[in-house]
Amino acid sequence: MSFHQSSDRITVPHIRARKGAKPIVALTAYSALTARLVDPHVDIILVGDSLAMVEHGLTSTLGAGLDLMVLHGRSVMRAAHHALVVVDMPFGSYERSPQVAFDNAARVMSETSCSAVKLEGGCAMAETIAFLTKRGIPVMAHVGLTPQSVMTLGGFKVQGRDRDDWSRIEADAVGVAEAGAFAVVLEGTVEPLAAQITRRLVVPTIGIGASAECDGQVLVLEDMLGLTERAPRFARRFDHLGLAADKAIASYAEAVRNRSFPGADETYQFKS
Ligand code: KIV
Repeated sequence: MSFHQSSDRITVPHIRARKGAKPIVALTAYSALTARLVDPHVDIILVGDSLAMVEHGLTSTLGAGLDLMVLHGRSVMRAAHHALVVVDMPFGSYERSPQVAFDNAARVMSETSCSAVKLEGGCAMAETIAFLTKRGIPVMAHVGLTPQSVMTLGGFKVQGRDRDDWSRIEADAVGVAEAGAFAVVLEGTVEPLAAQITRRLVVPTIGIGASAECDGQVLVLEDMLGLTERAPRFARRFDHLGLAADKAIASYAEAVRNRSFPGADETYQFKS
């Protein structure tokens, strides 16, 4: 167990203070390899439970257990020295009671040395968020489209298309912020509602499929790099590395098959 905090690491109070100021840049990373790439450029690295789908090929995030989140959180923490690292609490690890949530969040924090946890849910999670934050566990909340509720929502459905739902979604965001969340992820929420919530909250909102008016943005790294096969409409492809990787792997396969690899520079000759 290590509690080393690099002295120039971005902290929870730094993020909290960015409300209405310079936009907060967040990306996911699930491993030391990707954390090393992302860390110099972002304010927050999220070890999201989306890793269940992106890394492990599952069809939803429901299969990400605590052990898996801890494993990936530890890997990311070995390579991230600048960004605030937030680890997702997986489905089933925090809903039963504030006490259970505390035990599991404390495990995530002590075994990974991350700075905060994220959990999904609005007003129903307010008591838990208050319980954790009063006991030293910073919580990033997540409202709007909450992927762990995919079965209840009937799919990954944009929230707020029906004007009648706005007050409930806004109340969820206000509820988790008042309970002590230091930031609120707004996912898959219609743009004017996300902007309205951002104006209302005193803590930063981090949008994903939400609004450019949010105090920050987060994307799944593999989506924005163009490595995933399919991505939601809101995930702009900033590059198409999947195509580049396909080309490189095909070249390797060809070089092995025609025996042009390994070449003289890639083998060790015996000098007598
Ligand atoms: O699991 C995840 O990656 C997330 C976001 C992208 C917000 O929760």
